[in-house]
Amino acid sequence: MLKTDLCGVSLKNPVIAASGTFGFGREFEPYLDLNALGGISTKGLTYHSKQGNTGQRIHETAAGIMNSIGLQNPSVKSFIENDLPFMKNFESEIIVNLGGNNIDDYVNGALLLEDTDINIIELNISCPNVKEGGMAFGIKCESAFYVVSEIKKVSSKKIMVKLSPNADDLVRVATECERAGADALSLVNTFNALAIDIKRRKAVFDNITAGLSGPCIKPIALRMVRDVYKSVSIPVVGMGGIMNAADAIEFIMAGSTAIQVGTANFINPKVMIEIIQGMEEFMENEGIKNLDEIKGII
Ligand SMILES: Cc1cc2nc3c(=O)[nH]c(=O)nc-3n(C[C@H](O)[C@H](O)[C@H](O)COP(=O)(O)O)c2cc1C
Repeated sequence: MLKTDLCGVSLKNPVIAASGTFGFGREFEPYLDLNALGGISTKGLTYHSKQGNTGQRIHETAAGIMNSIGLQNPSVKSFIENDLPFMKNFESEIIVNLGGNNIDDYVNGALLLEDTDINIIELNISCPNVKEGGMAFGIKCESAFYVVSEIKKVSSKKIMVKLSPNADDLVRVATECERAGADALSLVNTFNALAIDIKRRKAVFDNITAGLSGPCIKPIALRMVRDVYKSVSIPVVGMGGIMNAADAIEFIMAGSTAIQVGTANFINPKVMIEIIQGMEEFMENEGIKNLDEIKGII
């Protein structure tokens, strides 16, 4: 009932674990059946391994969290050798989230992935927590077009570009990514935000700003997903504060082909299973046979 086609790749359902909130699935394996998920987007990987940022990395806000992980990861090569074999034990689609400090990093990472049988690369041009690269590529149309077209030259994989809500002009960045050959778009990454420790009279995070996610961003993310959906012809994967099945359905109605769940995993590790079941129940109760019946109806 929930079977979904995402740019030619068949997902058993549209529920995908969002990058950076599910690792490579290992820590979650005791709590849920990893086979049940539509897909898992890996922690953001870079060509060279990264230690991540110093200081506080997570901060809770009234209705969300802020993070400044700084793309800590073991490198694409280490992932292929040590983590991909584990992930391949499961049926869920493996989506590799690929970041970079510069264009060579992105291209070299994509080249290493050519030798694997993964289908989809989620090109992360939207990480707000790194000094070089990351979001710098995703907030301007020209650099977004450039990085996507360079990756398309060297990669035979489906390229899903992850957009930043902090972009100068999100809809234009989206249309430029499509023009550069993107096969799908995912949005949103975290919002640039600030938290202050008033006793220390300092910002909570060493980098001053950090990325905001969770329920507080949902209405804005939803509006952005609809704006982008209306402007492109490629599939859109929506995320931002999805906590339950009703939230997921809202994102489908705003134009999402599939959805990703991030922050909610930290509160309830089984939440994605509940969302899959809740979406099925909703469809049965409402007499909806296929998600296409409600996709983008707003
Ligand atoms: C702790 C943490 C780490 C994240 N790391 C990444 C990452 O490595 N790559 C990426 O594209 N997005 C990363 N994200 C962003 C999420 O994938 C997602 O876009 C964002 O959190 C919004 O969804 P949510 O509100 O459901 O969490 C991270 C988010 C959090 C909270």
